[in-house]
Amino acid sequence: MAQDQGIVIRRYRGGDQVEVLSLFRCCTLGHIRPAFLHALRHPDNVGLALGVAVAAAVLSGGSLWVVAGACAAWVGLLLFLCWEVYGGYVRERLRSDMADIEAHFLSHPDKCFWVAEAEVAEGSKVIVGTVAVTRWSGGVAEGEVRGHGEKEGVQERCREGESERERPEQEEGRVAELFRMLVLPGWRRGGLGRRLAQTALVFCSERGYSRVILQTTSTQVAALALYRAMGFQDTLTRALPLTMRPARISVLRLEKPM
Ligand SMILES: CC(C)(COP(=O)(O)OP(=O)(O)OC[C@H]1O[C@@H](n2cnc3c(N)ncnc32)[C@H](O)[C@@H]1OP(=O)(O)O)[C@@H](O)C(=O)NCCC(=O)NCCS
Repeated sequence: MAQDQGIVIRRYRGGDQVEVLSLFRCCTLGHIRPAFLHALRHPDNVGLALGVAVAAAVLSGGSLWVVAGACAAWVGLLLFLCWEVYGGYVRERLRSDMADIEAHFLSHPDKCFWVAEAEVAEGSKVIVGTVAVTRWSGGVAEGEVRGHGEKEGVQERCREGESERERPEQEEGRVAELFRMLVLPGWRRGGLGRRLAQTALVFCSERGYSRVILQTTSTQVAALALYRAMGFQDTLTRALPLTMRPARISVLRLEKPM
């Protein structure tokens, strides 16, 4: 158990479920707004928006209402896609691993789920962060964001001479996956994310894992900065499936040898 600045990092207990699920929803859905703003400003999407406006003007004989409606529909589509990426992920996870955290993350000594608990007033505690480790389950991660598992759109590199699937399967049982790295917004930038990651890495080392893998998205800039600062290296970038492409979100895989 680690303790610092009144925050204790400990193993998950059954009574934590409501707070942990609320933290998971809040932190994951929090990516929708920055992802939407990024999609709106993306040069390709600006070009497409102009194309939509010009096409609407030509087809409607210059009706401003039709042009405004077409632009609003485009903006609505981008918001829907960004919502679908993160909202869809939350929906899926609440039906799978997060539906029974103890069964999924605490049923084997090689897995664990931690919570960071802060004392906010005398005797009153609140969960302000989480992190989890499971065994890497093969080429498609257990906790991929909606659409991540698609083979379509793999943009870049596996390590030289290694196929994306063969390496993890060969090493099954020795490769860990880091999950659910979440810190409540008001508690960020105080070193808690780093402490949670360190807790998970120490566990991976003690359990004899040779490598730790994680997946995140291109809009999760804080998480990417944290992982890279802790020695994780980018190994794979995937685009989302074609229908989700205007969201301009990529899925990144990062790895760290132990
Ligand atoms: C990612 C997250 C866990 C970081 O938690 P945190 O407590 O703020 O992280 P720390 O204070 O320990 O920061 C550690 C390092 O990460 C980097 N970092 C963290 N937040 C950052 C930000 N907003 N911008 C740039 N770098 C950032 C910095 O390198 C920082 O070191 P420094 O403070 O010495 O500069 C938190 O922002 C979060 O919960 N985000 C939303 C959920 C998420 O995206 N999780 C990842 C799932 S894959």
